[in-house]
Amino acid sequence: MKTVLTGIKPTGEIHLGNYLGMVQQLSDLQEKHKSFLMIANLHAQTVPYNPKELTDLTFELVSSLIALGIKPQKTTIFLQSDNPYHPYLSWILGCLTYLGELQRMHEFKEQSERYKKEGVGSGILMYPVLMAADILLYNADLVPVGEDQRQHLELTREIARRFNNRFGKIFKIPEALIPKETYKIMSLSNPLKKMSKSLPEGCLEIFAPEKEIEEKIMKAITDSGKEIKYDPQNKPGISNLMIIYKYLTGKTLAEIENEFQNVSYVDFKKEIVKAFLEHFSQARALKRKIKKKDVLEILKAGKEKAIKTSTPLIEKIKKITGLKV
Ligand code: TRP
Repeated sequence: MKTVLTGIKPTGEIHLGNYLGMVQQLSDLQEKHKSFLMIANLHAQTVPYNPKELTDLTFELVSSLIALGIKPQKTTIFLQSDNPYHPYLSWILGCLTYLGELQRMHEFKEQSERYKKEGVGSGILMYPVLMAADILLYNADLVPVGEDQRQHLELTREIARRFNNRFGKIFKIPEALIPKETYKIMSLSNPLKKMSKSLPEGCLEIFAPEKEIEEKIMKAITDSGKEIKYDPQNKPGISNLMIIYKYLTGKTLAEIENEFQNVSYVDFKKEIVKAFLEHFSQARALKRKIKKKDVLEILKAGKEKAIKTSTPLIEKIKKITGLKV
């Protein structure tokens, strides 16, 4: 049995890209492994945010994850802020991480460009160190993430090796689990960009009202020509819709091409709307039943388990790094 850990930021409603990139992987992995799902609310503070919204989004996110198949009996669901050892270990690891390494991260470059006007908080720079702490604190073997987190995982591995070389073998070197094909579900409004909350018109939120889902899919950018054919180079819009349809229905791309020969883009989109609502109908119904009280209980149990699991490792780290007298 391995330890699986992943994190998700409570910065927006869960969308199809998150679901196919991470949630679906974890819902399979939790059956066989010791699993942790951390709500990365400290990471959410690295950019300007609204406190009330952060709390609300945290509740929403936890109930969405449960509705989508993350089982609290199998996966420890907890808030990053509920285990103070995360920022504690982050400090220790930060002292071993070079400034140049952090400045080279794609996400740092993007975010520091984006918040140039408001001012770039040092949290944006330290982001990957906190993430390394999240993972190493539980000695995770496997970390399911989307492709965009690959570089952060590589840095985590480097920091773990460096720590082990310097102080003795404490950490396992974690492995990223990045899904091959679904790693990049593209935006419906710009199929050259990844689906994300920053492009709201092209972002399919799983629990959005039916009407909104329908509108977004029907408005999705398509390509010239009228064939439903998988050709990401020349037909990025249709190819992205085909990938989405593939994962909603379990059909292969060849089957989809076959089924939609001589079908218009509009009719294909109508089928995607249907498939989407069908695929998530159970989760959508379940989510409505989850109460705030249930979420609070789950997070309380998660907090206890997270602290209990990480305490022995932290004790070893304190000793080995000279903090314990
Ligand atoms: N940075 C990750 C993201 O944006 C979220 C995250 C924080 C995470 N800590 C983590 C993912 C630890 C995996 C493991 O998707």
